[in-house]
Amino acid sequence: MSPSKRAFDLVVAANRLPVDRVVSADGEVSWRTSPGGLVTAMESVMRDRDGAWVGWAGEAGEAPEPFEEQGMWLRPVALSEDEVKQYYEGFSNDTLWPIYHDVIVGASFHRQWFTQYEKVNRRFAEAIAEVAAKGATVWVHDYQLQLVPGMVRELRPDVRIGWFDHIPFPPVELFAQLPWRRAILEGLLGADYLGFQRVADAQNFVRACRQLLGLQTRGDTVSVSRADDSRRVRASAVPISIDFKGLEALAKEPETRARAKEIRESLGDPETLLLGVDRLDYTKGIGHRIKAYGELLAEDKVAPPREVFVQVATPSRERVEAYQQLRAEIEGEVGRLNGEFSRIGAPAVQYLHHSYPRREMAALFLAADVLLVTPLRDGMNLVAKEYVTCRYDEGGALVLSEFTGAFHELHQAFVVNPHDIEGLKQGIMRAIETPDKEKRRLMRAMRRRVADHDVQRWAARFLENLASAPERPAPAAPSSRGGRS
Ligand code: ADP
Ligand code: G6P
Repeated sequence: MSPSKRAFDLVVAANRLPVDRVVSADGEVSWRTSPGGLVTAMESVMRDRDGAWVGWAGEAGEAPEPFEEQGMWLRPVALSEDEVKQYYEGFSNDTLWPIYHDVIVGASFHRQWFTQYEKVNRRFAEAIAEVAAKGATVWVHDYQLQLVPGMVRELRPDVRIGWFDHIPFPPVELFAQLPWRRAILEGLLGADYLGFQRVADAQNFVRACRQLLGLQTRGDTVSVSRADDSRRVRASAVPISIDFKGLEALAKEPETRARAKEIRESLGDPETLLLGVDRLDYTKGIGHRIKAYGELLAEDKVAPPREVFVQVATPSRERVEAYQQLRAEIEGEVGRLNGEFSRIGAPAVQYLHHSYPRREMAALFLAADVLLVTPLRDGMNLVAKEYVTCRYDEGGALVLSEFTGAFHELHQAFVVNPHDIEGLKQGIMRAIETPDKEKRRLMRAMRRRVADHDVQRWAARFLENLASAPERPAPAAPSSRGGRS
């Protein structure tokens, strides 16, 4: 069998491959870890399994040949420059992303974007059909690929299809705005099992099927009943997590600990080091956090060099206008605070617009006395779980927005509503001032939770739910492509 014709019992599909292809100015090609929580989680799941990963290599143009990487078979899918603009930046990140995140910024609707979304989803489905062995398990990920379950089902009725939603699923009142709502729900219902971050997300999906498609629902199950297709599809919550053991081991390594110490020293050994780590995304509440911190500076409740605030803002979706505006706003605010409150050698806010290796992230978490996680809406927020994992010393304190998936698990955090700036300021001050002994008790409990519910357990639960999904009736005749109405 030629290497490009291999077939796998487990096929994962996500918009991005776990690695991005990067070409430097002098034409040198290298691969680097792709951004985001999806890749962090799935990369550690797939490391232990034999399977294929279908996804985009992160640059427009022809797809590289399939290749093997850390035991995974990577099957790149090509996106043209136009498709990057319309399927990825447009429909995925300027239509779906805002609708699925409470319309924090307005969504744009363009019929041409959806046409490209359909076309690219079809290409993913074909690539999956090509690498899936007979009776394989196909695991599709996230909002970029919502039509894929239905398309794979047409092409390969023999495989079992699951889909996991890494981001929130919106209430029906918001979802209903999408002119393509029916196609999206029908696409998702092509799966045998659908997993969501929170119970509320799964319920929103089930309600949308009832109200917008008129389908019968019972508890967490939707009944699909058409002449050619009659089945029940379950939609339930399986919150994602991280590789607790692997990350904790990295945090414990002498090199990481030494780096954490060095970071604190280079910041002037503050009494309190506060840290924020987010993709530069309007869902993350970075502006609200900076506003609250600015008021604390103005009220002299915090002051450099006694307190130092480091904000890591990872570059993200830089050609989408809402992201460009956000960057300008955040950088303007950081500049204003630094102009007003910094002292020579002691900036009020250290702002870093970079990606870092995993060890550097672990060292930052280990160095930080307080982690600020203040999203306005976030499917899970793995950064919160990573922080807790790295704190094997039981030090540190977590300030956590109630609008994250993580809030539903990490009950011992200092919980805040980021829209309530006074409450946010109080939450930050409580995290700074609570006695260490009490903070250690809280951290211990959160660490237990993440250790018990790690990413391996998440993947096992998802795959069990998929395996135990109701059997499908055998197809009457081979179905043809594009044959659904
Ligand atoms: P999202 O998926 O929305 O970006 P998550 O918090 O769930 O948010 O996941 C973000 C992931 O990206 C985490 O694994 C985090 O450690 C990683 N990450 C965030 N910022 C950086 C950065 N600057 N450099 C390297 N990794 C980062
Ligand atoms: C979130 C999404 C992922 C996405 C990641 C990074 O985690 O759920 O699907 O990959 O953000 O965003 P990007 O647009 O760079 O892939």
